[in-house]
Amino acid sequence: MINPGYADDLPGRVVDMNVPNVARIYDFLLGGKDNFAVDRVAARALLAAVPEAARAARDNRAFLARAVRFLAREAGIRQFLDIGTGLPARGHVHEIAREADPIARVVYCDNDPVVVAHANALLGDALTVAAVESDLRSPHQLLAHPRVREMIDFDQPVAVLLVAVLHFLEDSDSPWEAVGAIKDRMAPGSYLVVSHVTGDEITLEALRQARAVYRGASAPGTARCREEIELFFDGLEMVTPGVVDVAVWQARRRARNIRPALFYAGVGRKPGIPGQP
Ligand SMILES: C[S@@+](CC[C@H](N)C(=O)[O-])C[C@H]1O[C@@H](n2cnc3c(N)ncnc32)[C@H](O)[C@@H]1O
Repeated sequence: MINPGYADDLPGRVVDMNVPNVARIYDFLLGGKDNFAVDRVAARALLAAVPEAARAARDNRAFLARAVRFLAREAGIRQFLDIGTGLPARGHVHEIAREADPIARVVYCDNDPVVVAHANALLGDALTVAAVESDLRSPHQLLAHPRVREMIDFDQPVAVLLVAVLHFLEDSDSPWEAVGAIKDRMAPGSYLVVSHVTGDEITLEALRQARAVYRGASAPGTARCREEIELFFDGLEMVTPGVVDVAVWQARRRARNIRPALFYAGVGRKPGIPGQP
């Protein structure tokens, strides 16, 4: 166990550089530099099993940007809760949200203290953006975090982003209940954004090998089928085009129909009129 030295504000926190880390594997897939040898070995094993994984990671990141742009520009959302933030990568949520409103509020949440330290270093003393260490598996605690409560007014529409994070919750972590608790807290007119890994279009052997990579990592990975992913939107009105391959969700260019789909994604709106219970 090695203390990397950049999580000074998190005394006692250490980073195990012998264990592949899910945020750093994703960073490598996106072409980033915030990863260690152990992460690159894991990422290469993943790519050997599922060669399209890097393309899918880029498509997922592009979906995140399109979804935030839609929410900020077309849906008029001014506050964002981004759970499972990941390491800094192109197109931060606050930068995109601020294109529509320079004082849009964004809270980044991640259960990885190094991710949070990176985010805080990036944000400096920003007044309308914060990063907190919190775990989606304890949604009530996350929603009650002092910084979240200070920055997010849950009586007003909010966008909750669960982009490429729910597959790090196993069924035994009750992911549908966690999302249910968040939806309950959202005001009418709020939006939920989800992207999630699927194994629907790859072989069982490829799926088994991918699972094995994440079993040895900082969080196990659970691919889910389309119906299981659609369940996260239970009770919400789906924004067009519904739950689809992450690469084609509101993509400007015609659906590229690249197979296999490795992530499904969608955006749902909580019914009702903002400001009314
Ligand atoms: C693949 S990255 C996704 C980054 C970003 N949302 C994106 O899609 O580009 C997943 C992130 O989720 C975080 N994560 C995993 N399990 C989590 C949990 N239970 N609670 C909060 N964050 C979690 C990881 O630390 C990692 O930073």
